[in-house]
Amino acid sequence: MRVLITAGPTYEPIDPVRFIGNHSTGKMGYALAEAFAGAGAAVMLVSGPTNLADPAHPNIKTVRVDTADQMYAAAAAAAPSTDIWVFAAAVADYKPREVAITKIKKEGDTLTLELVKNVDIAATLGRTKRATQFSVGFALETNNEEVNAREKLARKHFDLIVLNSLRDPGAGFRHDTNKVTLLEADGQMTIFELKPKAAVAEDIVRTILARLPHHA
Ligand code: CTP
Ligand code: CA
Repeated sequence: MRVLITAGPTYEPIDPVRFIGNHSTGKMGYALAEAFAGAGAAVMLVSGPTNLADPAHPNIKTVRVDTADQMYAAAAAAAPSTDIWVFAAAVADYKPREVAITKIKKEGDTLTLELVKNVDIAATLGRTKRATQFSVGFALETNNEEVNAREKLARKHFDLIVLNSLRDPGAGFRHDTNKVTLLEADGQMTIFELKPKAAVAEDIVRTILARLPHHA
C-alpha cells in the first residue's frame, strides 16, 4: 500500500528575504506518516518548511518543498502511483503576483501587495482520482464547521475529511494534542476525544484502512 501525504505550511516569497506563511507545524502530517508506515505502508511525505526532522522510518520518503507550486508538482508526480492521498498541509491560499528580485525598500507609508490564488492541490488531484484511490482532506473551521467541511468534502472529491475543532483549548495549530471529527462521503460522522497527535493519527489511519476495499 502506497500513501501520499502533504504536510506543513507553504512559504510564498515576496522578495529575496520575505515570504507569506502560516503557523502550521507539520506535526499532524508527520504523525500520520509515522502511523501509516507503522501499519506497513510506503509513504511519500511532501513537506513544506518545518522545524521537524525527516521521519526516521525506512518506509517514509520525505520530499522538502517551499511553495504551493512546488508542493503541487511533487504531489502530482506521486499521485498516480499511490493508493491513499492525505492532504494535511496548510497551503497558502494566495501568493504574491510578482516576486521582487531585490529586497523591497521601506519607502511609502503604505505598501500594497497584489496576491493571486494558488493552485488547489487537493481539488486538482481530486479530479484525477480513480475509483480505487482514497482521498483525505483536513478542514479547520471557526464557524458552520460541519456545513463548511461537508462542502469541501464534495468539492475536492474527498472520501473522508478530518474536521479540526478550534473550540477546544489544546486542539489545532501549535499544540501537541488535537480533537477531530471525521466526516465521510456516505454521511458517517465519528467524533474523537482530545488526544496526543500521534493517537489522533492512529485513529485516522485505522478508519481509512477499514474503508479500503482490500482491507474490508
Ligand atoms: N488544500 C490544498 N491546496 C490548497 C488549499 C487547500 O491541497 N491550495 C487542501 C488542504 O490541505 C486541506 C483541504 O484542502 O486538506 C482544505 O483546506 P482549506 O484551507 O480548509 O480549504 P480552502 O479550499 O482553502 O478553503 P478556505 O481556506 O477558504 O476555508
Ligand atoms: Ca485555505
